[in-house]
This record gives sequence, C-alpha cells and structure tokens, in this order.
Amino acid sequence: MSPTALNANQCLETWHTAIQAALEVSLGRAQGNTRLQSAMRHAVLNGGKRMRPLLSLATAHALGHDALTAMQPALAVELVHAYSLVHDDLPAMDDDDLRRGQPTVHIAFDEATAILAGDALQTLAFEVLSAAPHAADTRIEMVRLLASASGIAGMCGGQMMDLEGTGQAQAHTVQGLETLHAMKTGALIRAAVLMGALSANASSAQIAMLTAFADQLGLAFQIKDDILDIESDSVTLGKTAGKDVEQGKTTYPALIGMQASKARLGALENEMHALLRAFGEAADPLRLLVARVVERTH
Ligand code: IPE
Ligand code: IPE
Ligand code: MG
Ligand code: MG
Ligand code: MG
Repeated sequence: MSPTALNANQCLETWHTAIQAALEVSLGRAQGNTRLQSAMRHAVLNGGKRMRPLLSLATAHALGHDALTAMQPALAVELVHAYSLVHDDLPAMDDDDLRRGQPTVHIAFDEATAILAGDALQTLAFEVLSAAPHAADTRIEMVRLLASASGIAGMCGGQMMDLEGTGQAQAHTVQGLETLHAMKTGALIRAAVLMGALSANASSAQIAMLTAFADQLGLAFQIKDDILDIESDSVTLGKTAGKDVEQGKTTYPALIGMQASKARLGALENEMHALLRAFGEAADPLRLLVARVVERTH
C-alpha cells in the first residue's frame, strides 16, 4: 500500500472504532423494555460494514473538516439502515433468516418484536440527529434530508417497487431498475454523503459534485449486492446467497447479464474517481470506500 493509501486505511480504521463506540452509547441511552432493547442491539451491534457512517465521516474529511464533526448524522443514517434491514428480512418482505452471520431479528426474537425494533431504531435515528452539534438550521436540513431519503421518495418507495416486481425478474426496464436501486439503496447512501457535506459547510458546487458521486456509489453498491447474491456463498456473505434468483427479484444480473453488470460497475467506479479528483488527497478515505464497495466480498 502507498503511504497515502495507508493513511486513508488508518483513518477508516480509527473512524470505524469511533462509530462502534458511539453506536454503543446511543443504544445504551435507549432505555425501556428489555426485550425491545435487546432486539435493537441485535440489529445494530451484530457486525455490519458501517459503510454509510464511514461515508459521512469521509465526506467531512474530504472537505477539510474534522471527520468526527459528522458523527451524529453518521449514527442516524446507520440506525435507519439497521431498521431497514430488520424489516427487509421479515417474512412479509424477503423472508430471510440470516443477517451478518447471525439469525435475523424476527428469528432470534419474533416478528412483532422485529417490527417494533425497526420502528424504534428509526425514531432513535431522528432523536440522535436532532442532538447533533450543528446550527439549528443545519440540523433541520439534515432531518429533512434523512426523512426524505428514508420515506416514500427514497428507501421505503424503493422497497415497495422491489416487492411489486418480485416474481417477475424481467418486470423493469434498465431505467426502471436504476430508479428502484437509486431509491431503495441509493437514497440512504446519498443522505450519508450529503449530511457529511452539510456538517462541513460544503459550498453548493461541492454539494452538486458530491451528490453526483453519491448517486453513482449508491447504484454501484446495489449492483455489487446483486452480483454477490449470485457469485458468493452464505458463509462469506453472512446472509443467504441465491435469494434474488429464488424469489425472482429484478436485479442487474437478471436484467442485463453478469458480464454487462460488471462492466457497468467498472464504468461507475471510473466516473466516481473522476468526480473525486477535485477534492485532492483529502478524498483518499472516500476513494478507499469506493474500492471497498466495488471489491467487497460481503
Ligand atoms: C445491505 O447493506 C443492504 C443493501 C442496501 C444492499 P450492507 O451491505 O451495507 O449491509 P451491512 O450493514 O454491511 O450488513
Ligand atoms: C435491501 O436490498 C435494501 C434495503 C433497503 C434494506 P436487498 O434486499 O437486496 O438487501 P439484502 O441483500 O437483503 O441485504
Ligand atoms: Mg430486499
Ligand atoms: Mg433482502
Ligand atoms: Mg441483496
């Protein structure tokens, strides 16, 4: 590894440790029914790559700010992500019993507890975000951003489209599938990047570039997820491989084939690196996150 890549790697390691500790603190403060608390902890603290919070921190760093200034929004987006996974795994949705190498929340507990744990993680996210140390107008903008990325125009809307297309893998056009991916996965990734940018007082030109970057990253993330569902195995993935094919999900490989999906991923990677050029060396942790998304094995 070159010295700058090594530094970027050390940044990500340090931030990962800080994120883990801060998630522990946030969940520790969520006091109440012990069964619900345990289910929430199971959902959040059982592994996970922490890609979205790392993106928030790496974006603030790319803009020359202390990465940790973006910690509260970073935690909030990870809590929403964890909630989305708990609900995504429910029998009414993807019906998965394995997540991050552990039983899913509705298997380890029960369905009602999983629904409530998801709900409570979502509200905890906004509680954490509302306590961010930024000016009130910035905080309100972040709340608006995360709420809109999570709801009907974002993750929930994309999940609905995903479910409507289940069983008809060819139901979407490529454009339609791109919209679906941009909503179900891209929206939270975009929120992670943009909240990092807001934490660092980004200019509107920087926000425009980072939005384009985040949109490509969100699409790349889900294309890779779709590829791994086919090419990997359940032990490596920590979730059941082959589920998309089994359930007839519209995915990139199903629609355009494996080779074309990989070519699209490679093209997105090049475009992302081109967009990051303007941010110089400070964007090295973001570059490393791009590599992790494209090369990840789980
Ligand atoms: C999985 O997300 C769900 C998708 C949006 C594809 P991640 O791959 O980021 O899951 P964790 O958080 O690392 O488990
Ligand atoms: C889920 O996409 C994205 C979410 C909004 C949770 P997938 O259904 O492909 O995610 P995995 O493969 O179960 O992690
Ligand atoms: Mg799903
Ligand atoms: Mg799923
Ligand atoms: Mg998947």
